[in-house]
Amino acid sequence: MSARPARAQGTAPATNSDLMAFLSKKTWQFTYFASQLGDGMWGGKNILDFGGNIGNILRDPKSTIDVRRYWCIDVDKEAIEQGEKVYPRGHWLWYNRYCFFFNPCGVQSLRLPELDQLFDYIVAYSVFTNTTPTDMLELVGQLEGRLARKGALAFTFIDPHYRSWPGRYHGNNFLWRLEREQELAAERGETLDIATTDLMSRAQHAEWLMLVNAGDLYVETEDIRRYEAEQQRTCHAFFTERYIKKLFPRATILPPVNNEMQHCCVIRRS
Ligand SMILES: C[S@@+](CC[C@H](N)C(=O)[O-])C[C@H]1O[C@@H](n2cnc3c(N)ncnc32)[C@H](O)[C@@H]1O
Repeated sequence: MSARPARAQGTAPATNSDLMAFLSKKTWQFTYFASQLGDGMWGGKNILDFGGNIGNILRDPKSTIDVRRYWCIDVDKEAIEQGEKVYPRGHWLWYNRYCFFFNPCGVQSLRLPELDQLFDYIVAYSVFTNTTPTDMLELVGQLEGRLARKGALAFTFIDPHYRSWPGRYHGNNFLWRLEREQELAAERGETLDIATTDLMSRAQHAEWLMLVNAGDLYVETEDIRRYEAEQQRTCHAFFTERYIKKLFPRATILPPVNNEMQHCCVIRRS
C-alpha cells in the first residue's frame, strides 16, 4: 500500500485539501471475501465497500461484482475521486469522518451518509485495523442497519498474537508490524529507534492495542495523547479473536485466508 509521502515527512495539513491522498495498492480483496463468505457469485447483489479507497476490490481478476451495484464510502476524498474516474458507473461517497491518519481534519463520530439502498454484502478490508474500538463499534452498528435480508457484513481485523506465516516468518503479527515500520523508515532514509523488546513485552497479554506513529503503544486504552494533525502518521489497531468475539457475540470469526494476515469477522443479518 502507498503511504502519504508529504504527511510522513511532516507537512502540516491545515484542512483536508492540504492532505496527500492515501491510494491503496492492495489487490485480491474480492478473492479474500468470496472465500470468507463462501460465495463467489456477487453479480446481481448490492455491494458496499466500506473504506474501499479507490475500489481495488473491482480490479481483482476474480471479481464478479456488477460495478453499477457497487458503492464505495471512504474518508479519503482524493481516493474517492480517483475511484470515480476509473469506475464512473459505481457510486462513490466521500465521508468526512475523523480518522487519526486517513482524515485527521474530519468530524468526530459523524454518522454514515444516508443511502437509499440496502446491501447484500458490506465489506471492509483493513479499515478497523486503523480505528479505535469505539469507532469500530459505532460504525459496525450503523453498517449492520444497512444490510438487506440475508445480507452479511464482513470486516477484517489483525490479531496481534497470531502467527500468520509459520515456517516462513518467525514472529506474530505485532512483531511483523514493528519490523515493517523499521523497514519503511529505512526506505525513507530515516532511522527509527523502536524499543521492540519492551513493546513486545507490554503487548504480550493484551486483548487489544494501538500502535501510534510506529513507537507509541497504547494497551487497552483509547486515551491517546494529543498529536498535532501533522504528527498523525499511523495508527495500527490490533484486536484478538477473543476480544472481537466479546464485542460482537453474534459474529462468526474466521482465520486469515489467501495467505493474508487479517482475520475476518462476519455478521449476518438476523
Ligand atoms: C488500509 S486502507 C484499505 C483500503 C481498501 N479497503 C483496500 O483494501 O484497498 C484503509 C481505508 O479505510 C479508510 N477509512 C478509515 N477510516 C474510515 C472510516 N471511518 N470510514 C470510511 N473509511 C475509512 C481509509 O481512508 C482507507 O482508504
